[in-house]
Amino acid sequence: MRNLKNDIEKVLVSEAEIDAITTRIAAEIDRDYAGDDKKLVLVCILKGSLVFMGDLMKKVTVPVEIDCMKVSSYGKGSESSGQIHIALDLLRPDINTCDLLIIEDIVDSGVTLSHLTKYLALKGAKSVKTCTLLDKPSRRRVEFVPDYCGIEVPDEFVVGYGLDFAEMYRALPFVGVLKPEVYTK
Ligand code: PRP
Repeated sequence: MRNLKNDIEKVLVSEAEIDAITTRIAAEIDRDYAGDDKKLVLVCILKGSLVFMGDLMKKVTVPVEIDCMKVSSYGKGSESSGQIHIALDLLRPDINTCDLLIIEDIVDSGVTLSHLTKYLALKGAKSVKTCTLLDKPSRRRVEFVPDYCGIEVPDEFVVGYGLDFAEMYRALPFVGVLKPEVYTK
């Protein structure tokens, strides 16, 4: 049987490090969203954020609701300005009472989250903030700073813990760098 771990050059963020990151961010969320005037909704951006969302929400102790969106950005990796396509929208009649916290696995060019935060604010959300496990600031094409960030990573081909290459590797429990021969084949 093929072992996907053999395709990994090195572990970039270990399971223990991820555990510490989710613990820290959950505490920050608890601190910031305490209070009866808050209605916190964690919005998972499918598919990459699924694993991070699942672990993070278990550690947050303030009351939360959850929701999902599926978004893709056009012109990824190209020089185009970048637009997003919303394949699964947030359909909440109560959005104007919701404090949305968008959960992402990675911020790369920044196109997805910079558009999405504006879109959800225009839809009438009471507040919109962003949380990412990984941030690759060196890849930015638009100015964007996440409100909560797990760890900055270099511009390497990262997979695992939700992140994929050709839909594989998402189930690995750590974030690793893929061997170049895997994606240059
Ligand atoms: C990834 C990631 C973010 C986006 C970040 O999703 O989950 O949504 O790209 O890139 P950006 O900052 O350049 O906009 P992807 O389109 O790979 O879909 P997936 O989560 O389903 O794998």
